[in-house]
Amino acid sequence: MKATSHNPLKVKIGSVTLENPTVLAPLAGITNLPFRLLIKSTGCALVCSEMISSNGLVYNSPKTVQLLCSTPREKPLSVQIFGSDPAIMADAAAMVESSGADILDINFGCSVKKIVKTGAGAALMRTPEKAESILKAVRKAVKIPVTIKIRSGWDKSADQAFNIAKIAESCGVDAISVHPRTAPQGFRGTADWSVITAIKNRINIPVIGNGDIVKPGDTVAMLSDTRCDGVMIGRIAIGNPWIFSQTLAMLQGQPILEVDHATRFTVMVRYIRLSVQYSGEKPACYLMRSRLGWFVKGLPHSSGFRESIKHISSESEALELIDAYKHKLTRQVHQDVPKRFFDHAI
Ligand SMILES: Cc1cc2nc3c(=O)[nH]c(=O)nc-3n(C[C@H](O)[C@H](O)[C@H](O)COP(=O)(O)O)c2cc1C
Repeated sequence: MKATSHNPLKVKIGSVTLENPTVLAPLAGITNLPFRLLIKSTGCALVCSEMISSNGLVYNSPKTVQLLCSTPREKPLSVQIFGSDPAIMADAAAMVESSGADILDINFGCSVKKIVKTGAGAALMRTPEKAESILKAVRKAVKIPVTIKIRSGWDKSADQAFNIAKIAESCGVDAISVHPRTAPQGFRGTADWSVITAIKNRINIPVIGNGDIVKPGDTVAMLSDTRCDGVMIGRIAIGNPWIFSQTLAMLQGQPILEVDHATRFTVMVRYIRLSVQYSGEKPACYLMRSRLGWFVKGLPHSSGFRESIKHISSESEALELIDAYKHKLTRQVHQDVPKRFFDHAI
């Protein structure tokens, strides 16, 4: 992504301009349309789908095709596909483009056994010829920007990442996201940001750094340490969509606002409503039994709330439980006030 001249935060991936350098990482099972809409509303410039099977798309699996569901409100949207067959990847990419996605991303980083043994995901980093065939076929199949998301490769040298980055650039790929952990590493240890710098120094297309962002200052540090063009944020955004608004505030030199309870509960309610619309009441409630708990981490009585939502079976029940918890917290604040006042008065 190249910073544009008038707004230093604006960045470009091929023909797509992002308002700022923050990007939501693809997270399997999490970054569906409802989640992406929550994230979008906190200022994230580019949201990404979870990885979608190219075979599933091409063979019209209804569950897979549903993952292409989008709305103009979340745009620009990047859709990630995975697979290992160049012709199928090209057909799947064309389907993604027809669905209205703004960017097509290819998964070169998934190190889960089930994926790697099919030759997809991180396996492509050690089969550069196959990787090149896929990139050429996909590039030919679509007009929208094509990006790839890679790891460091299969060993610490990161040579495979350097090689794939060069191949990608020569095939007309528009940007590369780098999660600098090796495939065998999974999510253990720390992300080696020096690999992001090394890739940035080797290619002329935009580089999006990724890995271990947990607070707004980390994004600022990654941008300045590695000179990457954008920063992709993953796990910390789960239950904490405000990482994007807070990061943006820091990038703009504005004060970072704490998230108050009211905002937290409004987002939880929105998440339920969107999820019910997206997948229907029963499946949405099943999901919310664990997901609502993400948003209350660290709040007083959160374990009681988590316990209470374990069996929710309707939207109205979920909303009632949220309301009850909200009131409990509000009462707690009111009870605390005289005590604090008293302490202060002494
Ligand atoms: C639950 C989960 C699901 C993930 N799914 C995907 C995926 O579908 N595609 C992908 O490229 N990376 C996936 N990743 C990797 C993330 O996109 C990201 O690279 C990684 O979490 C490191 O960034 P973070 O430290 O900000 O979380 C996943 C990670 C997690 C924890």
